[in-house]
Amino acid sequence: MNAIEIRNLSKSFRGMYAVDHLNMTVPVGAIYGFIGENGSGKSTTEKLICGHLVPDEGNIKLFGRDYTDAGVRVRVGALIENAGCFPNSNIWNNLMMQAINLGLNNPAGEIRRVLKIVRMEYSARTKFKNCSLGMKQRIGIAMALLGNPALLILDEPINGLDTDGMRIMREILVDITKNYGCTVLISSHILGELEKIATHYGIIRQGKMVMEMSAKGLEGRTRTFASVKTKDMDGAKTVLCLKYNNVRKEDGYLRVYDVENTEAIVEYLFQNGYVVNEIQKNKIGLEEYYIELMSKKEK
Ligand SMILES: Nc1ncnc2c1ncn2[C@@H]1O[C@H](COP(=O)(O)OP(=O)(O)OP(=O)(O)O)[C@@H](O)[C@H]1O
Ligand SMILES: [Mg+2]
Repeated sequence: MNAIEIRNLSKSFRGMYAVDHLNMTVPVGAIYGFIGENGSGKSTTEKLICGHLVPDEGNIKLFGRDYTDAGVRVRVGALIENAGCFPNSNIWNNLMMQAINLGLNNPAGEIRRVLKIVRMEYSARTKFKNCSLGMKQRIGIAMALLGNPALLILDEPINGLDTDGMRIMREILVDITKNYGCTVLISSHILGELEKIATHYGIIRQGKMVMEMSAKGLEGRTRTFASVKTKDMDGAKTVLCLKYNNVRKEDGYLRVYDVENTEAIVEYLFQNGYVVNEIQKNKIGLEEYYIELMSKKEK
């Protein structure tokens, strides 16, 4: 079953499509990385799923049911823009207000549960205004987790976090999906970070879904290459081009694409009078794949 299934979804503002006949499929249990440049329609799509905006056309199904169905709406938690907390109230009271709004049965127990998930059980008495950005983002996630949702929608939750903040966020998101059976839709520009946790990707451009794929699918599409450094790069490039189909100079290295055997390159260059100073095997990551895909679409 799919947690989210969107068909032909459109939303325009003043005659301009922000979301343009978009299709999207998010399987249950996925961490779905939603990627796109500024203004491509990520937040608008997320707001439509959450019911904060009304679509012009199209349909959204959550867990196989229409997204307006009250039974399914209560299974969705979201953090879009900010958590909407009161700065002078402490974390506990902010969560309590939201828990009461949601009409939860055991608000104190539920707050303890979500604070534990976001590793803030010992900071409950800190005033919101005194929290660091990393803490605020985690409080936002705790808010969204109140009521034990099956689907969590997060709009750029790792923006502005330091390395440690990102690591904690990563661990929290993996924990939520693995141990609490939650599906996560997360938009982000930080592709290197997203790549560490996402099981699926959706790439949006000008409101349209350009590509959807699983992390495994990405692996299949990305290519391996060897990065080579020698004293005479231009000479070595000419020689390499005689044997290998795809050789490019990039970032101060010669890249030989789609080659598994780096020893063969070293040997071949040596036979032709070039000594290899450095060689490493690499793989094109999400970021490079994304940049290449975007540049193709521009042409
Ligand atoms: N309430 C609104 N009124 C008018 N235009 C809007 C509104 N919300 C979004 N837009 C426009 O819709 C387009 C998509 O915006 P959206 O915020 O969904 O993009 P985004 O992918 O989230 O961008 P970012 O990465 O900057 O957050 C943009 O051109 C934006 O200006
Ligand atoms: Mg946005």
